[in-house]
Amino acid sequence: MTAAPPRIRVVRFTPSELVDRLAEALGVYVTAMRYPRSAIRQRAPLWREHTFRPGWRAVGALDERNVLVGLGYGYRGARGQWWHEEVRRGLLDASPNGLPWLADYFELTELHVLPRSQGAGLGEQLLRTLLAGCEQASVLLSTPELDPARPARAWRLYRRLGFVDVLREHRFAGDPRPFAVLGRSLPLPGPDLPPLGHP
Ligand SMILES: CC(C)(COP(=O)(O)OP(=O)(O)OC[C@H]1O[C@@H](n2cnc3c(N)ncnc32)[C@H](O)[C@@H]1OP(=O)(O)O)[C@@H](O)C(=O)NCCC(=O)NCCS
Repeated sequence: MTAAPPRIRVVRFTPSELVDRLAEALGVYVTAMRYPRSAIRQRAPLWREHTFRPGWRAVGALDERNVLVGLGYGYRGARGQWWHEEVRRGLLDASPNGLPWLADYFELTELHVLPRSQGAGLGEQLLRTLLAGCEQASVLLSTPELDPARPARAWRLYRRLGFVDVLREHRFAGDPRPFAVLGRSLPLPGPDLPPLGHP
């Protein structure tokens, strides 16, 4: 007999709800990204500060015991934000035709699912729920470049949902790894609509 899959619900978080679960959310982040636990304390002030940014929105996935197993958040991108300026610098250097992407976008800052809950469509459900009702013209994100030594699941998800290259092999200040910046126009159909490609 096989065990029934655990029931997971995807909910929207208000800023205070995410802050109340900040340590738990950062635990999901470091586990999914395979970062050291020390990153939890380092990132906490930044994630808290992000909740004050215009257009901030967040979603979480809770199991039947109310344990957080996945989350996503982001906010409206704007001049002066670190990520925006880094991507702008990269586009100016390597791909100025891409600059219009920065005119009106939602920055997908984080999207993570605990390994034990991956592989069942939860990341896609979180992303669709997060983006439903976004007012911006597009969504942008950065993700480490494909690396044969790391799982490619995030890439498969973004490609499946129609994300295209905005900037490749970008080096953010302070991080030696190459990153891709990917983008997609909005709206993206919500989680209860037929998947992309459905007749
Ligand atoms: C990227 C990430 C958030 C994706 O979450 P996920 O739940 O694993 O991904 P998906 O929603 O795409 O689902 C994955 C698989 O389930 C399958 N799936 C989709 N809908 C399904 C459904 N209804 N039932 C069963 N399986 C389904 C998909 O086909 C997909 O298969 P594949 O990855 O083998 O191609 C997650 O893998 C993760 O946290 N990774 C580490 C951190 C990371 O890289 N984050 C992104 C940084 S930018």
